Amino acid sequence: MSFNKITVVGAGHVGATAAQRIAEKELARHVVLVDIADGIPQGKGLDQWESAPIEGFDTRIVGAQDYELARGSEIFVVTAGIARKPGMSRDDLLKTNAGIVRSVSEEIAKVAPESIIIMVSNPLDVMSYVAMQATGFPRERVIGMAGVLDTARYRSFIAMEAGVSVEDIQALVLGGHGDTMVPLESCTTIAGIPLSHFLPQEKIDALVERTRKGGAEIVGYLKTGSAYYAPSAAAVQMVEAIVKDKNRILPCAAYLTGEYGQDGIFLGVPCKLGAGGLKEILEVELTESERAALGKSADHVRESMKALD
Ligand code: APR
Repeated sequence: MSFNKITVVGAGHVGATAAQRIAEKELARHVVLVDIADGIPQGKGLDQWESAPIEGFDTRIVGAQDYELARGSEIFVVTAGIARKPGMSRDDLLKTNAGIVRSVSEEIAKVAPESIIIMVSNPLDVMSYVAMQATGFPRERVIGMAGVLDTARYRSFIAMEAGVSVEDIQALVLGGHGDTMVPLESCTTIAGIPLSHFLPQEKIDALVERTRKGGAEIVGYLKTGSAYYAPSAAAVQMVEAIVKDKNRILPCAAYLTGEYGQDGIFLGVPCKLGAGGLKEILEVELTESERAALGKSADHVRESMKALD
């Protein structure tokens, strides 16, 4: 099962790694890498294609500076923008990246009006909104990547602490990306067994806190860039769910129209992803404190959106 064409916009760390992962999984016959930087998408695309005989994939990767080769793509993974620098908040990025994402989205609407956009550029709840506005696409076809990454970080920390396989850990986080994410304790289990069976509450709290700051922890080490292995893996998991019509339940940023008491914003919620993109938003029961935390997270997204005006 694969698509004919998937385009990744932004051939930087996240975008190029995502393109390579898509190709290695053969999720599409063609992968197009688009970037404004002169020669970068062409060079990386060619280098990646030259890895095909070794890795054994037939997905043809090409790079370009315009959108002609991207015409008719079924999915766009948007990673264009500037990455967060040390000490820079996600919201500092907002204005610059909003301009970039708006122009990218207009190009996407021209060459592939039926496509699905997976937004990765930060701050991604707001960038998803910008893309939806600029393309006029329905919410089924504009989905933000955040929760898959946040839960992956959480799961990786739990695995280290509890000494169990990452594969057996299920977790669900709602809300905005990073600082304002809301982990749902009732939905965090190891092989279905509540996390509290394995770890004391203060350990769990510490892991949640580390997850919230997971992006900043990596930025602190790298100094000149931000995370990209886990972010690209997260975006590609969403791509795979759609390409293979898997009906996966993944935490994604979706445009809410009343769900969880929120309206008119993108926020991380459990989504069913499959053919056509977002198939359904699942509303799970929240505790009083989870509902309050989600409200705060939504306020934060609304606050960021004000900067767009
Ligand atoms: N069109 C296409 N590409 C663009 C545009 C544009 N208008 N503007 C910038 N780019 C490209 C840059 O040339 C660069 O190659 O986007 C790429 C971004 O790559 P990196 O700087 O390596 O950033 P990366 O680490 O990949 O992060 C990209 O994803 O996780 C988020 O916060 C992160 O918003 C950031 C995005």
